[in-house]
Amino acid sequence: MTTVDPRYLQIEVAAGVYAPQHDTWMLCEAMTASGVAGGARVLDMCTGSGAVAIAAARAGAREVVAFDLSERAVSCAARNARTAGVDVDVRLGSFAEALALARFDVLLCNPPYVPSPTVPTGTGLARAWDAGLDGRVVLDQLCTHALRLLTPGGVLLLVQSDCANPDRTVDMLSDNGFGARVVAKHQHRFGPVMHARSHWLAAQGRIEPGTDTETLVVVRAHRPRSKDTQ
Ligand SMILES: C[S@@+](CC[C@H](N)C(=O)[O-])C[C@H]1O[C@@H](n2cnc3c(N)ncnc32)[C@H](O)[C@@H]1O
Repeated sequence: MTTVDPRYLQIEVAAGVYAPQHDTWMLCEAMTASGVAGGARVLDMCTGSGAVAIAAARAGAREVVAFDLSERAVSCAARNARTAGVDVDVRLGSFAEALALARFDVLLCNPPYVPSPTVPTGTGLARAWDAGLDGRVVLDQLCTHALRLLTPGGVLLLVQSDCANPDRTVDMLSDNGFGARVVAKHQHRFGPVMHARSHWLAAQGRIEPGTDTETLVVVRAHRPRSKDTQ
């Protein structure tokens, strides 16, 4: 069990669960800076340790529902929410289960986005980052389902690497009627996963050979009130 204590959140990370890091905190910062969580019904998809969900509850969300497909993550997030003294409804599942619920005002997501030689399966730790050849297995689902997960006027905030084509994220969301743009960018040195995969990524043309940094971006997308859908 690792303890992370970034400024205001104390998170216990169980073995096999993604430890909050740069991407987690960029998403939390974008959420708190935008003020979107206040009074909102919030969905945190891919919750991991629950860090983002707890930050949303602390930011004044009216209700927070969090999903992950890993049982370890679900137990860990629920435990962290209890410790933090906030109410987060943590559930095992993914988009299909979330789509069965009432729509949300805010959708937050730090999905897996690291390009990987094989399509991820199972619920092990690698599922936290492995995202198929183009890094977009979950990102594409997120962009596809966002419209039906959000109420009119709802807001999506997601974080991803430039290795997984943020332009496609913005284009997919725009094609679905959202106003979408990059609202935060930060360059970081490769972590262990990107470092270990850098030759393969270069061979795939996803990074320049010798590169050891990636740019993380936060995309914000707003569902117009007038756009009604099924
Ligand atoms: C990058 S981690 C993010 C964890 C946490 N939200 C954070 O920011 O620190 C991605 C998480 O998504 C989960 N996950 C991967 N694919 C998923 C899917 N299709 N639906 C729900 N959760 C998924 C993984 O188990 C992992 O916990």
